Amino acid sequence: MSFKFIHLTDTHLACPGQTLYGLDPRARLDAAVADINRHHADAAFAVVTGDLTHWGEAAAYANFRDAVAALKIPYIAMVGNHDRRRTCLDMLEAAPRDGNGFVQGTRQTPHGLFVFLDTLDETSHAGEMCPKRLGWLEETLAAAPADRPFLLFMHHPPFAVGIAAMDDIALKQSAEFAELIAPYRPRIRHLFFGHVHRPISGSYGNIPFSTLRGTNHQVAFELDPKGEHLASHEPPAYGVVLVERETLVVHTHDYLDTSLRFPFKVPEGMDERNYALSRAAP
Ligand SMILES: [Fe+2]
Repeated sequence: MSFKFIHLTDTHLACPGQTLYGLDPRARLDAAVADINRHHADAAFAVVTGDLTHWGEAAAYANFRDAVAALKIPYIAMVGNHDRRRTCLDMLEAAPRDGNGFVQGTRQTPHGLFVFLDTLDETSHAGEMCPKRLGWLEETLAAAPADRPFLLFMHHPPFAVGIAAMDDIALKQSAEFAELIAPYRPRIRHLFFGHVHRPISGSYGNIPFSTLRGTNHQVAFELDPKGEHLASHEPPAYGVVLVERETLVVHTHDYLDTSLRFPFKVPEGMDERNYALSRAAP
């Protein structure tokens, strides 16, 4: 059986009752939690890769905490550029913490060490990994047994994804980060991040990566650097990750989608072609 976990990101909770860009972030997180409970209560845990709140108030973290308290599985809460580190640590026991006060930590699993990184710079929307955080990462990777793989989680991508407005606020120390992880690349099975509010996958120096839409608003698809940077109401999603020895599969689920479901199986006595054609019209 696969090792299953959930990837959630960019929940952007405000204070209870507040809407954000015309959407209710609490209601949309509640819906994600309910869907996960209904279909994936067998997952080991959920990882929320940052931007838990939009403005970082204690009341917004309480709102987040109340919503995810309904999860039937444990969760790990990470910080993004919209978060506030001290408030997050004070409000959420599920936020990991390293010896320097950063929201960093690890979790051992049957398929390797999950490593959670803090890329928050409270003075900027761009990502930061200062020498202390990079040092923690180096020690953590070096301390793991040489035959153990890693899965990395961070809010900011450590490379450009091709959407100029988001690339401007990616991880500032991309070169230092790449150099640090270079000796470990063959052992890094996957990199998960948030921040870009879009479904994107690919590879980065031979490391597979994926990210997905947030649970509230999204970033519109725009590859023209002169194009306008727009937000959108594209549907929210969460990821379901199935890990085995040789494979790691990421399913992205649009959990609010209510489009038609119907059987592929052709009803008894009906021609396959007629069935397919009859399904063309709603
Ligand atoms: Fe975000």
